[in-house]
Amino acid sequence: MNLKGKTVLLTGASGGIGQAIALELAAAGARLVLVARNTVRLATLQAELVAKYPAAHQIFSADLTQTQDRQDLLAFVRELQGIDVLINNAGISQFGLVAQQDFAAQLGTNLLMPMLLTQTLLPELQRKPEALIVNVGSAFGSIGYPGFSGYSASKFGLRGFTEALKRELSDTGVQVLYFAPRATDTAINSDAVVAMNRELGNRSDSPQLVATALLQQIQQGQARRFVGWPEQLFVRVNAIFPGIVDKALAAKLAVIRRYAQLSHSEA
Ligand SMILES: NC(=O)c1ccc[n+]([C@@H]2O[C@H](COP(=O)([O-])OP(=O)(O)OC[C@H]3O[C@@H](n4cnc5c(N)ncnc54)[C@H](OP(=O)(O)O)[C@@H]3O)[C@@H](O)[C@H]2O)c1
Repeated sequence: MNLKGKTVLLTGASGGIGQAIALELAAAGARLVLVARNTVRLATLQAELVAKYPAAHQIFSADLTQTQDRQDLLAFVRELQGIDVLINNAGISQFGLVAQQDFAAQLGTNLLMPMLLTQTLLPELQRKPEALIVNVGSAFGSIGYPGFSGYSASKFGLRGFTEALKRELSDTGVQVLYFAPRATDTAINSDAVVAMNRELGNRSDSPQLVATALLQQIQQGQARRFVGWPEQLFVRVNAIFPGIVDKALAAKLAVIRRYAQLSHSEA
């Protein structure tokens, strides 16, 4: 899709990846609706965008797990005469052993929230001759990772939702894309996660690199994109020969468990 003149609703716009995506989208000529709970961060980003890429960029403060907030956002979108693109980027993550996980929070935010927001806004997207939904998943949406059971489950679910939705809308003007970064340098990762990744040699990307990859995916209309090597390979190996990845992760389990326990004692 050519983003010039398109209205893009971006959730998670106050976060590390969201801010970088917003800058890329605005540079490509899109008009943005920036959504998150933190109004101050949204207003700061809006001011930066308007200064660099003048356009009627909007902010909308909402807790998207709340039905009323999603309805208010729908009313706001209707006032704007609709949107062309919805990017479901907002998310949370917890690192810890199963006993320490808040499954409801992670599934509520990472899975149910984008599903319900998509359901709410789909009629607005369908009014446009050409529209796009992008769901931001994760490498852990294809590889179940120890210490991330809730997060992995939520992102596996999001990938399944995206695939079903894409196929359901395949004869309409609404395209559906799935975008999966690997570890990225943002506040979603606790100190324990950063330290564990360093010890295990897991690479972490900059938000700018991730945002550039997403922009390319949108411009090329690529259905699925996994960021980073060798993660792209591991995703495929895990799908076909999961036993190989079982063994590779079993070899790392002692380190993962040590950091997961550390993460719990820090909390
Ligand atoms: N960083 C990584 O390592 C990594 C790797 C793979 C995938 N991802 C995915 O990339 C996406 C962006 O993550 P990030 O790294 O940029 O994390 P981040 O910096 O923590 O940003 C998360 C964003 O989600 C928003 N959010 C969370 N709960 C919300 C709610 N209930 N209502 C509205 N907004 C909410 C936050 O805004 P407020 O707090 O202002 O509401 C914030 O803008 C997530 O879906 C994440 O799972 C990240």
